Amino acid sequence: MEKIRLGIVGFGFMGHNDADMMATFDDIDLVAVADTNPDMLTDAPEGVETYSNIDDMLAKADINVVMVSTPNPSHPEMVKKAAAAKKHVICEKPAAMSVKEFDEMVAACRENGVLFTVHQQRRWDKDYRIMKEVYDQGLVGDMYIIKSQLYGFNGFMHDWHVFPEMGGGMLYDWGVHLIDQILNMVDSPIVSLYADVQNVINEKVDDYFKIIFKFANHVTAEIELGTYYLTPARRWFIGGNKGSAIIDGFGGEGKIVHTRHLLENVPGKITMTAAGPTRSFGPAPEGLLYEEPLPEVNVSHRMYFEHFLKAFNGEEEIIVRPEQVRRVLCVMDAVRESAKTGQAIAFEQA
Ligand SMILES: NC(=O)c1ccc[n+]([C@@H]2O[C@H](COP(=O)([O-])OP(=O)(O)OC[C@H]3O[C@@H](n4cnc5c(N)ncnc54)[C@H](O)[C@@H]3O)[C@@H](O)[C@H]2O)c1
Repeated sequence: MEKIRLGIVGFGFMGHNDADMMATFDDIDLVAVADTNPDMLTDAPEGVETYSNIDDMLAKADINVVMVSTPNPSHPEMVKKAAAAKKHVICEKPAAMSVKEFDEMVAACRENGVLFTVHQQRRWDKDYRIMKEVYDQGLVGDMYIIKSQLYGFNGFMHDWHVFPEMGGGMLYDWGVHLIDQILNMVDSPIVSLYADVQNVINEKVDDYFKIIFKFANHVTAEIELGTYYLTPARRWFIGGNKGSAIIDGFGGEGKIVHTRHLLENVPGKITMTAAGPTRSFGPAPEGLLYEEPLPEVNVSHRMYFEHFLKAFNGEEEIIVRPEQVRRVLCVMDAVRESAKTGQAIAFEQA
């Protein structure tokens, strides 16, 4: 297996995180890091070359792959420079701030014959993978609704994430991941989507959004994220005609709930509640519902790089493919359009 000799440009939060990850691979050597802020380079791992910009790193370092971990607006420039220097490229998400920019990045990589992929490692999050198993195995029957929710209490964005021109806001931040997860779970064209995007605490960038997708296979998927949402949230809910599955955190804690009888077989029973008598919405009769554990999964973010290493050696296709990333960026354009007009947007209709 040919070794990856990696150069990271942008040695901030994510650059450091990725450097730590590379240290766990025998077949990936971190050779160089580049950052325009010299303070960021002071704790570069021993033996790793440091550069003050990508041009010097590309000219001098003996590398074959570049990881782009600079803030969002600089990704196109970094990717095109790396491609022109015939280096394969892994770019942080969001790969680009527009579809046009992204197409230019893809074209530059194709013209130079280098691999291009984006670090969508949240496809290997444990909570997501468990729900993808529930979906793929049809463990709750024919599914009609998927809810992916992420609520936080901090409110404010940090660092450059407060500036729109830097690609700030939560849609560019976690939104890209959450959309990517749903599109990789539901293998069906999107008929339409509706979105609400708001600035609740932050003046200039979004910190709340809800996106509702209607897929051609009749599944509805809803993503809701808020950074100022002061009650705990269920991370996932999947409803099907044979059960409900829930997950309550990133660790994947949750269950699948089934009913022993279909509704028509339940003897008609009126339950008195605080809201008056009801036949459908009182508590379930004793013993009617039963629980099953969620499927086990064995995943970690390391798997993203294990796949990349194989693709680099020609053993498999790139796993986060440019056309998938492009679809997410097209969805984000439609999300903004829907939020602006208040209308659902037709999408991918035959
Ligand atoms: N995949 C993920 O889950 C994930 C998580 C966090 C951040 N990110 C992405 O990683 C990228 C970086 O985010 P971060 O949180 O690490 O930001 P950061 O501000 O912590 O780090 C960015 C670094 O890039 C450096 N830099 C800026 N312009 C540069 C240039 N032209 N050349 C070289 N270095 C330059 C800065 O000095 C800084 O050290 C963003 O695109 C972000 O969206 C991805």
